[in-house]
Amino acid sequence: MKLYHIDLSEEMLEGAQIAVVPGDPGRVERIADIIGKSPKRLAFNREYCSFLTSIEGKNVIICSTGIGGSSTSIAVEELARLGVKVFIRVGTSGSIQEYIEAGSVVISSGAVRLDGTSYHFAPEQYPAVSDPYIMFHLIKAAKELDIDFHVGITASSSTFYQGQERYNSYSGHVPRWLQGSREEWRKLNVLNYEMEAATLFVMCSAMGLQAGCVCGIIAQRVKGEDVVKDIKGETVDKTIEVVGQAIADFIKQPDLFK
Ligand code: URA
Repeated sequence: MKLYHIDLSEEMLEGAQIAVVPGDPGRVERIADIIGKSPKRLAFNREYCSFLTSIEGKNVIICSTGIGGSSTSIAVEELARLGVKVFIRVGTSGSIQEYIEAGSVVISSGAVRLDGTSYHFAPEQYPAVSDPYIMFHLIKAAKELDIDFHVGITASSSTFYQGQERYNSYSGHVPRWLQGSREEWRKLNVLNYEMEAATLFVMCSAMGLQAGCVCGIIAQRVKGEDVVKDIKGETVDKTIEVVGQAIADFIKQPDLFK
């Protein structure tokens, strides 16, 4: 039986237990091509585009989540029902630290829960943290690939504009309770803003699944609000390389899943 949103069945996954989950459906085919062998298109319904690829003889599914927590939770929920145990988000992000340049990569150890969806899985006291084993493999891969990377806490916002304190929106207004928030998170050593990690971390921890997150920095928020478009392609490719090598390494572990 095919599940409603992702339009995939257990048979179509061919035993895949690891998923790479980018936000952008337009990035799925490229990820499948770069990280694995014999990529195969599976489905495309709404924001959920999926490909199957093979790494070290094991099937890995790439499935986009769309932007934000709600659509991410649906993808993770349905993929988990089809047998996926490990979810690695590969995405883009804005740095809020001066020393983290556009073009570098951030591996999230945890996430500030500025989303709404994660609260449907666990109360606010529950942490949004990466699986340590997945994080270890992402760090190892980034080191081996000699990529400029940073590890630390990410802020996952429901919104791209107000929640990330951008003033270049339609109204130009950021609600008073969010004004000054970027500087506050910076002082608390949060590294970057993105929109899905908190949901992914909380729901995976709560359901006994493993999750990790690596993002390419495409905006330097200390310097401005805009995305640096000309470095986006190469930055995204770095994160894809990291995730591919991390999975190839992780797959060799004899005790793969908890
Ligand atoms: N994605 C985000 O959520 N924020 C940015 O600044 C860039 C990408």
